[in-house]
Amino acid sequence: MKAIQVGLLGIGTVGGGVFEVLRRNQTEIQRRAGRGIAIAAVADLDQERARRLVGDAVPVFGDARAVLANPDIDIVIELIGGVGVARALVLEAIAAGKHVVTANKALLAVHGTEIFQAAQQRGVMVAFEAAVAGGIPIIKALREGLTANRIQWVAGIINGTTNFILSEMRDKGLDFATALAQAQQLGYAEADPRNDIEGIDAAHKATILSAIAFGIPVQFERAYVEGITRLAASDFKYAEQLGYRIKLLGIAKRQASGIELRVHPCLVPAKRLLANVEGAMNAVMVQGDAVGTTLYYGKGAGSEPTASAVIADLVDVTRLHTADPQNRVPHLAFQPDALSELPI
Ligand code: HSE
Repeated sequence: MKAIQVGLLGIGTVGGGVFEVLRRNQTEIQRRAGRGIAIAAVADLDQERARRLVGDAVPVFGDARAVLANPDIDIVIELIGGVGVARALVLEAIAAGKHVVTANKALLAVHGTEIFQAAQQRGVMVAFEAAVAGGIPIIKALREGLTANRIQWVAGIINGTTNFILSEMRDKGLDFATALAQAQQLGYAEADPRNDIEGIDAAHKATILSAIAFGIPVQFERAYVEGITRLAASDFKYAEQLGYRIKLLGIAKRQASGIELRVHPCLVPAKRLLANVEGAMNAVMVQGDAVGTTLYYGKGAGSEPTASAVIADLVDVTRLHTADPQNRVPHLAFQPDALSELPI
């Protein structure tokens, strides 16, 4: 069967990771998807950098619409970020009958309802595992693994930049500006770091989690959002003395009156698991009525962790698009030919 054709819009840190992981693990990915997945076109404003990353085999365009206009493209990966151009391109891709995979949490938190409705009307999929907590498969956990549960709350460290800054301020006594500069150098922070440090990025992600967990529309505008910019060195000292750590948590909680959605610095008892999530790591706790409390931990940002989630979506969309009944079993189901790869 011909490989499914993918157009990649934006090939920066995450896009480069997608290209590299698809190349490196193509045998496993192809087996799990049931057919090959080919990046057939790339669009990026920086065409030279894009060509350096993908080589000569893949056409590179400066204009994303050249990719959308290609009738052979089945899936568009949107990694442009932001809510302006990205919204227009995603809606155009949907209108053209293409499935969309996106890591764009701001786009979905703000325009998700419009985008999901458009996709439903056009009969295409919009997949977004990479939009929340990078490589942690929290969307799949909520949607699939915990689907039997009435979710009571979701709470987590869902912004790596701020967790890194808080860890550095507490452990090394760094001041806020120095810790932020390090987070930027390490590539954790958003292009505009205000989204990280003011809690907006975490609120985008909490908004998406609340929609999945509670079946409500995305309502970013109703979230309470407070960042970490007003924390001082003395806050860390007093928290420590009282047996707490300061963590920026995103919380979505079922209350009698509705769903509570908030992001703000919290005092977490030092012995609790969430208090010990350090550096740029993410962790999400989910309380379901049947399962109890579950915890998901991993890298919430970075090239290959985020690419891992993007490709998981690519595989899912490929399987569903291909609609081969043999291909509908979960892709981690028993695969006889995979056994030979086990180190036993
Ligand atoms: N700036 C984000 C973070 C990147 O620090 O978590 C991943 O969404």
